Amino acid sequence: MKALILVGGFGTRLRPLTLSMPKPLVDFANKPMILHQIEALKDVGVTEVILAINYQPEIMLNFLKEFEKKLGIKITCSQETEPLGTAGPLALARDKLLDDSGDPFFVLNSDVIHEYPLHQMIDFHKSHGGQASIMVTKVDEPSNYGVVVFDETTGKVEKFVEKPKLFVGNKINAGIYLLSPSVLDRIQLRPTSIEKEIFPSIAAEQKLYAMILPGFWMDIGQPRDYICGLRLYLDFLRRNSASKLASGLHIVGNVLVDESAVIGNECLIGPDVAIGPGCVIESGVRLSRCTVMWGARVKKHACISSSIVGWYSTVGRWARIENMTILGEDVHVGDEVYSNGGVVLPHKEIKSSILKPEIVM
Ligand code: GDD
Ligand code: MG
Repeated sequence: MKALILVGGFGTRLRPLTLSMPKPLVDFANKPMILHQIEALKDVGVTEVILAINYQPEIMLNFLKEFEKKLGIKITCSQETEPLGTAGPLALARDKLLDDSGDPFFVLNSDVIHEYPLHQMIDFHKSHGGQASIMVTKVDEPSNYGVVVFDETTGKVEKFVEKPKLFVGNKINAGIYLLSPSVLDRIQLRPTSIEKEIFPSIAAEQKLYAMILPGFWMDIGQPRDYICGLRLYLDFLRRNSASKLASGLHIVGNVLVDESAVIGNECLIGPDVAIGPGCVIESGVRLSRCTVMWGARVKKHACISSSIVGWYSTVGRWARIENMTILGEDVHVGDEVYSNGGVVLPHKEIKSSILKPEIVM
């Protein structure tokens, strides 16, 4: 089986992290976002993953070469010269997606995290005999998503409405599709939206089916959702592979610590924290609901909550970092500095406090 991951877009909502790294390579729970997807695809027997990309393919490919070998899966790029939207890239990769097997292929949005029930999706697709299967999930605020109206007993989709202005339902497109090869005959090689053009037309012919995604789901393309997604993901780990989580007197709730990270004495860490490879957390530090990415150092008695510390950054002694502060790569926060929601661009030094949420350039 094959899969295509839609990796376009500039990830502007996840700046300043995406100023250093394409969004799919930004770490989530100590692993580039896209690796969560590639590993899950490999687990259900996918042998080739095509990255549909419209900028910086070299960075992605260099990075993923290492994992290609490790995971034993083929990873290739299909590069657009102009952004082709969410359907055009499928037409561009048509020859790569089609093979003699006639098997359906997966298409994934690159910025969502969930439990990857892909086996169940394959079974679902076989059971209904339609052309396309999509996963749906329930959200409180559906207007930012593609809303799917469907018969919950048969799964048949009546209507697919992308980002509706008026309420039509609260089950939304989770960005995980399994498509039969014949879907490719509907897509032209031009900028096209799978949500606005292709799904509505398949639904009109009653060949689009929706399955409710079991478990959690989150679009982690912006900081608040990223932090919330980490909580859901760690909770999932607790239920399914608790041994991956840290334990000890200094740990509260669900905490993921890379084995190469060093943690000092008398820290209090958690809940909902990820500490990446090579990080140094000095003594007396308090961390909750945050991510500290590889190579970062948090100095003695600093306190970080609801924030993201980018690669190779340092947080000074007694500093207090909170309320959706996002430190880009290689940012240095001075001793005793306070940040209330500062969004700090890469390579900056912060010597005075940031009292209200603002971008520091
Ligand atoms: N290759 C390529 N080219 N990829 C693209 C392009 C493009 O021109 N434009 C967007 N993408 C990729 C994005 O990188 C992302 O992985 C995916 O297509 C969806 O685009 P987003 O920009 O993240 O869309 P969204 O979050 O507003 O809405 C989509 O996701 C929701 C779930 O998170 C839609 O699919 C909604 O229907 C859905 O509910
Ligand atoms: Mg998105």
